[in-house]
Amino acid sequence: MEYKCCNHILGSIDLSFSGFKYCNEVWEGPEYISYKEENAFDKNEKRRIEIINNMKNGIIPERCKLCPLLEQKDWKEFDGKIHKITIFNWKHCNAACFYCSVHSEFFDGVKKSADYDALPIIQKLIEEERITEDTFVAFMGGEPTMLEEFPQIMKLLLDKKCRIEVLSNGIKYEPIIGEMLKAEKNNTICISVDCGSKEAYKKIKRVDKFEEVSQTIKRYIDDAGINSSRIKVKYIIFPNVNDNKQEIDLFFDLCKKIGVKTVARAVNHVESKMSTTKNQVIEASVIKSYKYFEEQAKKYNFELQPEPWADAIVENKVYNCRKISIMTRLKSELHFLLGKKN
Ligand SMILES: C[S@@+](CC[C@H](N)C(=O)[O-])C[C@H]1O[C@@H](n2cnc3c(N)ncnc32)[C@H](O)[C@@H]1O
Ligand code: SF4
Repeated sequence: MEYKCCNHILGSIDLSFSGFKYCNEVWEGPEYISYKEENAFDKNEKRRIEIINNMKNGIIPERCKLCPLLEQKDWKEFDGKIHKITIFNWKHCNAACFYCSVHSEFFDGVKKSADYDALPIIQKLIEEERITEDTFVAFMGGEPTMLEEFPQIMKLLLDKKCRIEVLSNGIKYEPIIGEMLKAEKNNTICISVDCGSKEAYKKIKRVDKFEEVSQTIKRYIDDAGINSSRIKVKYIIFPNVNDNKQEIDLFFDLCKKIGVKTVARAVNHVESKMSTTKNQVIEASVIKSYKYFEEQAKKYNFELQPEPWADAIVENKVYNCRKISIMTRLKSELHFLLGKKN
C-alpha cells in the first residue's frame, strides 16, 4: 500500500537509556515508553501497529512530522520481523570522556544494566522468529564490554547470524568481539581513540589507558585476520584539544604501527542534533583538521569510513558555522598549524 511511513516504524527497536521506541535517528520520533511502565515492551509493539494504521490514514505522530526519513511509497505490509535493533540501555563506562554525549557514569568494572535487562527481550524476539539473518544490531551504551549480559546477548546474535556493530572505547579486550569479527557477516567494531598520544588520551578520555587501547586494537586485528578492515578507529575532532596536525600525525603513526586498515573522523554532534537553525560556530581549525585527516587517510591508503552527519556539520548544512570574525578564524588556523591553545 502507498502511504507516508518510515523504515523504523516498520521494524526497528530502540532499547534506549530510559525506555523503548523505534528510531535512534536525528529526529525525535515517537516518545519513549519508559521501562518503569508495566509491559513496556508489549506496549511499544502495540503502539507500532497503531502508528502504522494511523500512517496508512495519513496521520503522522507530531514528533515525526518533519523527519527526513518519512517517505511516501508503496510500503511492504509489516510482518513482525525486526530489521534493526539498537541496544544502549545502560550508561556505565570505564572511561570518562569529557565530550561524552550520553553523560556516562564512571564504573571501572562489569555490571548489569540498572534500568532494564535486554537479554530476555532478545531471547523472546529470537524464539518468536522476529530476529533473522537480516537483522542489524548495534551496541552503543555506555561501554558494551562493561555490560555483564553483553557476551550472552552477542552469542545469541552470532548464532542467529545477525549483522552486528559494536561501538567501544576498546579499553577492555572482549573475546566474543574477536569471534564476531571472524564471522561470515560483515560485523564491525568502531573504537574512538581521538588522539595519537598518551598525554592527549588522558586529557580526552580522562583515564590513563592509551597503551591498553592500542593493545586491544592490535588483538582484534589479529583475531579478525583477513577481515581486519572491520575494525574502525575513530578520531573525534574537538577545538583546542586535538584539532592540530601534530596529534593527527601521531594518530596515523599509531594506526600504521598496529596495522589498522579503516579510520573514521567525526566532530562534536551534541549540539548539532535537530538544530537546523542554530547559528553555531565550528572552528576553522576543526574544519581544517577534518580535511587534513582525510588527506592523511588517502596518503597512507587507509579506508575512510563515511560519516554523513559529520560531513553535514562541516559543510555547513546543519547550522551556519562560517559566521565568525576574521580574527577568530586566523587564531583558529594558527592553532591548527601550531597545536597551541589560543
Ligand atoms: C556514547 S558512545 C558509547 C560506546 C562506547 N563507550 C564508545 O565510546 O565508543 C557511542 C558513540 O558516540 C560517540 N560520541 C560520544 N560523544 C560524542 C560527541 N559529543 N560527539 C561525537 N561523537 C560522540 C562515541 O565516540 C561512540 O562512537
Ligand atoms: S567511552 Fe563512550 S560511553 Fe564512555 S565516556 Fe567515552 S563516549 Fe562515553
